Amino acid sequence: MGPSASLSLVAMFHLVRSKDLYEMETEYSKNMPPGKDVDVSLSLHINRISGVDESKEEIALDVFLHVYWEDPRIRILDNTSQVELTWDKDPRFWIPDLYIRQLREMKVLTLFQDIASIRLYNNSTLRISIGATIIIKCDMDFVLYPLDVQTCAVDFGSYKYTMMDMKFRWREDPLSFPSDFGDGFRLPRYVVSFVTDNRSNVIYYGDGNHSTARLVITLSRELRSHLLESYLPSTLFVIMSWGSFVVMPEVVPGRMVLLVTTLLSLVTMFDTIRNNSPSALELKCIEVWLISCTLFVFLALVEYFVVLFGMRYDKHWRHKKGDLDRGLGGVDSGPSRPGAFNVPTLFGTNKVHAASDNNTVVVADNANVTAKAQCPSSSAAGKLRFQLLTKHVILYCGSQRGTLDQVSLALFPLCFVVFSVVYWISYIGESRRKSLSANV
Ligand SMILES: *[C@@H]1O[C@H](CO)[C@@H](O)[C@H](O)[C@H]1NC(C)=O
Ligand SMILES: *[C@@H]1O[C@H](CO)[C@@H](O)[C@H](O)[C@H]1NC(C)=O
Ligand SMILES: *[C@@H]1O[C@H](CO)[C@@H](O)[C@H](O)[C@H]1NC(C)=O
Ligand SMILES: *[C@@H]1O[C@H](CO)[C@@H](O)[C@H](O)[C@H]1NC(C)=O
Ligand SMILES: *[C@@H]1O[C@H](CO)[C@@H](O)[C@H](O)[C@H]1NC(C)=O
Repeated sequence: MGPSASLSLVAMFHLVRSKDLYEMETEYSKNMPPGKDVDVSLSLHINRISGVDESKEEIALDVFLHVYWEDPRIRILDNTSQVELTWDKDPRFWIPDLYIRQLREMKVLTLFQDIASIRLYNNSTLRISIGATIIIKCDMDFVLYPLDVQTCAVDFGSYKYTMMDMKFRWREDPLSFPSDFGDGFRLPRYVVSFVTDNRSNVIYYGDGNHSTARLVITLSRELRSHLLESYLPSTLFVIMSWGSFVVMPEVVPGRMVLLVTTLLSLVTMFDTIRNNSPSALELKCIEVWLISCTLFVFLALVEYFVVLFGMRYDKHWRHKKGDLDRGLGGVDSGPSRPGAFNVPTLFGTNKVHAASDNNTVVVADNANVTAKAQCPSSSAAGKLRFQLLTKHVILYCGSQRGTLDQVSLALFPLCFVVFSVVYWISYIGESRRKSLSANV
């Protein structure tokens, strides 16, 4: 029996008067929907967000939910525009079996009685309105923290009736908020905004498709506070560590203290931020940043170790060279021996030596090397070449003119800038892509 048919039959049936406010058809059964294709419309007044639980992935909302539908089998008797009907747990009317798929818990607010009402309008429209705290389960992914945008769909539909029998939709003005709402609820960690999806959504529960009205809750973060609290200090620490490149390598405590305190501060910061941020399966965006910052400082420390080692080796070498100078001052037959033929060419590449030390040093070193290379063969020459090369590198690093420090002073900031650009471009792109795909 369609709605129009039942309307026309009203006159023929005996009508049941109830408290002189409304009348129902005698055939009325609260187990029967008013007809085929019942149109249920919803609106929501969101009073406040009581909380977002990141570990449980839940959002708690205080809402007034209004559900409207038309039941032509009930009519108002008086020419009043609306009557309030009594609400109880077992209402005398057919009411839609609203089912919210993501609902974890719903508590109807109660003071003297439940904050709920059933209202009948003079055009046979019924409205249920309840004030409730609802807890919504929302799938959250924190890999992009703090650039993450969480979107949660909340589906209002029917469990019993398929889309053939019942259609759910939002009313014209579906969402209302307190007057001080602005563009979103501003929680300490999130800005929460709501959008209704006015497309007709369909959900499959196992038997038939069910029409649903979908609400999309978007949780986004205020990035500015994270930039100031986490990114800025860690960047400053990294920049501070570059200061070690301009400190004389001989000032061991000064340079060491600078680097080690910076490193420790970053490690502590990493720990604090990791404890205060939601947990994710993979490494979070901010963790990648902090680990990289720690690595940058660590590499600066390693650079200093290399410089120290070079200096020490340098000193040792000079000392030995002095000995050799004294002991082997006159011996200069080495380079003329056929087995040690490669040695002078190797020293030809040693620009540091050529530039810094005078001839006697080179001669002395040649003598030193040739003294070591007693059994010259091709593999031994290769080994010798390698030894000399490492020596050369170490001396170059530790050289008192601080060549390695100079290179690092340019290289570290360059690498850091390149890293930052790559980091921000990739993560912001990822974040954009995720929020776009969630909205489609
Ligand atoms: C109902 O309608 C009649 C006539 O239309 C009018 O006289 C009467 O005042 C109305 N009653 C109420 C309660 O509005
Ligand atoms: C319902 O009430 C409103 C306001 O009193 C009135 O304008 C409207 O004509 C009424 N509709 C019906 C169907 O009685
Ligand atoms: C019935 O009246 C109510 C209240 O005036 C209104 O919100 C609703 O849209 C009306 N329904 C129809 C089918 O006219
Ligand atoms: C949904 O609402 C938007 C704006 O409110 C409107 O432009 C769009 O046409 C609507 N879509 C449907 C399917 O009604
Ligand atoms: C439900 O909807 C989907 C897509 O809209 C369709 O492929 C499927 O056949 C429908 N199932 C039933 C039982 O109507």
